[in-house]
Amino acid sequence: MRVPLIAGNWKMYKDVNESVEFVTTLKNIFKDVPEDKVEIAVCPPFTNLKVVNDVIKGTNIKLGAQNLYPKQEGAFTGEISPLMLRALGVHYVIIGHSERRQYFNETNEFINEKVKVALNYGLFPILCVGEKLKEREEGKTFDVVKDHITGGLKDIPKDKIIYITIAYEPVWAIGTGKNATPEQAEEVHKYIRSLIKDMYDENIAQKVRIQYGGSVKPENVKSLMSMENIDGALVGGASLKVDSFEKIVKFYE
Ligand code: PGA
Repeated sequence: MRVPLIAGNWKMYKDVNESVEFVTTLKNIFKDVPEDKVEIAVCPPFTNLKVVNDVIKGTNIKLGAQNLYPKQEGAFTGEISPLMLRALGVHYVIIGHSERRQYFNETNEFINEKVKVALNYGLFPILCVGEKLKEREEGKTFDVVKDHITGGLKDIPKDKIIYITIAYEPVWAIGTGKNATPEQAEEVHKYIRSLIKDMYDENIAQKVRIQYGGSVKPENVKSLMSMENIDGALVGGASLKVDSFEKIVKFYE
């Protein structure tokens, strides 16, 4: 049984005070959410990880970071190491988000290095994959997704893959208000699961969680989550407001 993971990716939103106020509210409204129904995570900017952890420690909300640099320490001005994230109580780390691929030129090789380092330091990667609009229109969706999956998971051993969550995020659906239909998403999720099966085995493929991301809202979460191979959501815009994030997390009600 795969417990769905609903994670809020705050991106570069919310300062330190807004973050504390926000999670203080979330902590109360989510206190009765059963952990066998849904796992909850928030991924604030680096600057707010500590204060957010102080509020959510011991609750059913897990802490995630949005990135890391794949070295333990060193002369890498402006970067944050996996060890530093661990020391702050971080559990999940988003890796290879399309905004990082697009604006910071992150390659599959670099993303793969980050996944490996994250695992070595006991962090749980959320590996993002997904095609751009042009690629979908040209019928290249499966090729792009395969390239992201095989590249991002290169040399990840069998005993580690289950600690990774995959997030299928079609780039054309991110922040656009235009989500993939449940059928469009399910088709790709099913394909991703078949790739994992080919790379590992059926048993592992059944265990790995595959989240959907891209304009997830209270209005579409239920239908997306009803799909067999969709195991949660990575939520951007709608995770920044209490009302919409609450409805998304409580999709099962
Ligand atoms: P969105 O972002 O929900 O605002 O489309 C999703 C994401 O980028 O993870």
